Amino acid sequence: MRELTQAERTTIARIIRVNHAGETGAIRIYAAQIWRARKHYPDMAPALETMRADEIRHCAIFRAAMTERETRPCRVMALWSLGGFVIGFATALFGRNMIWVCTEAVETTVHKHLLEQLHFLKDRDPALYDAIDAIKDEELEHRDHAIEMQSGRGSIDRAAYAVISGLTALMIWLSTWGDPSLMVRDLRRERG
Ligand SMILES: [Fe+2]
Ligand SMILES: [Fe+2]
Repeated sequence: MRELTQAERTTIARIIRVNHAGETGAIRIYAAQIWRARKHYPDMAPALETMRADEIRHCAIFRAAMTERETRPCRVMALWSLGGFVIGFATALFGRNMIWVCTEAVETTVHKHLLEQLHFLKDRDPALYDAIDAIKDEELEHRDHAIEMQSGRGSIDRAAYAVISGLTALMIWLSTWGDPSLMVRDLRRERG
């Protein structure tokens, strides 16, 4: 494989950093939701705990990838952590349906970005490509489970879905200094 340019290495470092930060945010979302579910909807707790365990494993994979590629965690980790907790706590207050609306919104937004990352990594970092490809499948399972569990979608649910998707996309964009926009451009150009 050819030697990567400095710009490509920077993008790869940003991908790992934003994914590590995103997994941290997801862990915090689930932690807040589990905390409330245990009290008010105990039947939901096991599924949420399984998803949180997946996110903890994903987070560790990206942390290890950082060491291998000599990069460090995102500078706004505290914001991801706090943001995740606030989203998890707020959605759990609205009840069980909103918890699943939140999962679907986050996982759908994340999935879009993972596809863009995979496109970029395919010929540049096969090891990271394989790791993200496997994680992507698990995130899709989370999303599908969330869709399955919803009882319908009212106007508050629809508004929350839009806000949570928007916030997730904004955090991703901020943490990669606009790289997703560049990846989207490349992806579209290649598709023609
Ligand atoms: Fe994850
Ligand atoms: Fe997930």
